[in-house]
Amino acid sequence: MSIALIVPAAGSGRRLGSERPKALVDLDGVAIVRRTLAKFAGIPDLTETVVVVPETAVQEFNSALEGLEFHVGDVHIVSGGDTRQASVRLGLEAVGSNPDLICVHDAARPLVSRRTLADVIAAARVSGAACAGSRAVDSVREDLGDGRTRALDRTRLWMVETPQVFRFELLMKAHHTAKAMRFTATDDASLVEQAGHPVEIVESTGSNLKITKQEDLELAKVLIARSESRR
Ligand code: CTP
Ligand code: MG
Repeated sequence: MSIALIVPAAGSGRRLGSERPKALVDLDGVAIVRRTLAKFAGIPDLTETVVVVPETAVQEFNSALEGLEFHVGDVHIVSGGDTRQASVRLGLEAVGSNPDLICVHDAARPLVSRRTLADVIAAARVSGAACAGSRAVDSVREDLGDGRTRALDRTRLWMVETPQVFRFELLMKAHHTAKAMRFTATDDASLVEQAGHPVEIVESTGSNLKITKQEDLELAKVLIARSESRR
């Protein structure tokens, strides 16, 4: 089953507070987006990779992704939109082949384990829609407005991550329907579910840290050093 990859990297990284787009920020000598792509090296049947970047930074991403020392299929760099949803849609439109599956994985998650990638892809091959997630670790309350909140049952809650893998046609249809219906969501699994297809959740293995704030960069460096010392 052929698979294509979309890497949304068009955010500005407001919470990180860096001058450059977050995905270009250096993480232990390598740009975050390059580390993220490296995790997909040698995924069987990966035909192409679309990296979606800020309109104003196409050149910089071209340089950051020059001369890749690993294979992730044909690499295209395209401009994104104002929201993550718009960026993924633009990425979908740039997919040149007609893959069976599409994987969406945020540039901001460079530490994803190879095991998590393989597990989510394997699940999606069977069910057509799967995403990585972790069990909620904090107690969670829902905001009811007017200063009122209520406790939710943490044992039933998942924190949703990427990778998210779908049948290509299914994700295309979900994005087009969402655009037509003006439905917005923070991830692709929500759009696919809204389009009427259930999404399987696969517990991620190892750290799948999302680089959001400065302290996440520090933590990511420690985790990279630890994994390198184990090799
Ligand atoms: N993203 C995107 N297009 C956007 C907004 C976000 O492609 N218009 C991407 C980001 O580049 C990131 C992923 O979606 O890889 C998850 O978003 P997030 O972690 O929130 O990154 P930013 O939006 O860049 O950060 P912030 O919200 O702090 O500005
Ligand atoms: Mg954001």
